[in-house]
Amino acid sequence: MTGSGSSTSKQKTIAIVGGGVIGLSIAWRLAQGGARVTLFERDAAGSGASHTSAGMLAACAETEPGEEGQLPLNRASQQIWPAFADELERYSGLSVELRTEGTLILAVTADDQAKLMHQLEFQKSLGLPLEWISAAEVRKREPHLTPQVVGAIFSPEDHQVENRKLVTALHAAARKAGVSVREHAPVERIAVANGRAEGVVVAGTLHQADVVVLAAGAWSRGIEGLPPEARPPVRPIKGQMIALRMDARAPILSHVLWAPGAYMAPRRDGRLLIGATVEEKGFDASLTAGAQLALLEGAWRALPAIEELVIDEAWAGFRPGSRDDAPILGLGPVEGLIYATGHHRNGILLTPITARAIADLILRGTIDPLIRSLGLARFAPSAAAAAE
Ligand code: FAD
Ligand code: GLY
Repeated sequence: MTGSGSSTSKQKTIAIVGGGVIGLSIAWRLAQGGARVTLFERDAAGSGASHTSAGMLAACAETEPGEEGQLPLNRASQQIWPAFADELERYSGLSVELRTEGTLILAVTADDQAKLMHQLEFQKSLGLPLEWISAAEVRKREPHLTPQVVGAIFSPEDHQVENRKLVTALHAAARKAGVSVREHAPVERIAVANGRAEGVVVAGTLHQADVVVLAAGAWSRGIEGLPPEARPPVRPIKGQMIALRMDARAPILSHVLWAPGAYMAPRRDGRLLIGATVEEKGFDASLTAGAQLALLEGAWRALPAIEELVIDEAWAGFRPGSRDDAPILGLGPVEGLIYATGHHRNGILLTPITARAIADLILRGTIDPLIRSLGLARFAPSAAAAAE
């Protein structure tokens, strides 16, 4: 048996499973706090959902009935995003392209308008800073939209980042802080003995650690070694997307736009992202004509000028969806094992708060009240019985 190091009383040794935005950001924060961190990534860092995302920081626009419980965490992360981006950019020397134009949620028919008004009433009852703006005002802000626009909700605090640049910056920051990032190093199993995580097994070798962080996104449930009650109930939720190429000097959209059937996120390099489907197809990454057609049609109805644009790329990714759609953060039944998974549609939004809360838990033993109810215990049969 070899080890990647044993702990001293001063320095904790941490093994992180998964190199998406969640694993990388936690690694960075832990290394900044003085821990000895090794991150194991099966492929290249950031090649999972973090690469295939749209990068929207949509704590307000995406809030639907039934999701009120997640709002404090989502809003807290949204509020610390600008400072997080600033610190990450200064630390890594790389841009994450945080754009702050806000988001428009478009109505193109009277039916859309009625539905959005209902949604707006609900969201405003939660204290969210959203407002209805007229068709004329919408077209003033986005002149290329269809003349059929009847109005829109404007969400001034829902911004976006370039998620692929975010991955690159986090990777660089983690390395600079001293994290050993081991790419193409799949974790075969988490080693558990006497109810305690001892480390991770990679290429047949045990890498000992005081703490193991499970941050393997949609693959988290499949990591071997854990007893059944310690496996997080996370499954892949497939999302297909498509990117078109605008003229970067004359883009046809500047806000993030939600239209019936599709959302759009314009990037500074001229890419126009269109997303996304929500499919229960396991890890099937195929692109389907129907889904791509539906996305393009939804986008075209709102923004007819896309007709002339060149198709740049199309892809599918896997959101890590938990049984109740909320992330799984913190402790579970195996001592020394910390969960940071199940971020579903909001993993980019939740990166700063997840990194802070998990680093605080590991380095200081403090549980941020925002994640207190988000541990694995909420799925235990006893918790379900108590809730009835
Ligand atoms: P991932 O990025 O998937 O990283 C997990 C990593 O673990 C992967 O790199 C994988 O290779 C690795 N791994 C797996 N098994 C092993 C193993 N055995 N050993 C070592 N490594 C392993 N969120 C937002 O906030 N805003 C959005 O606009 C948004 N849009 C989205 C659009 C789409 C189409 C999709 C699919 C997702 C979107 N999301 C969005 C969600 C967001 O992308 C995810 O919640 C987030 O990226 C999850 O990050 P992660 O690090 O947990 O997972
Ligand atoms: N949050 C956007 C998506 O998951 O598609």
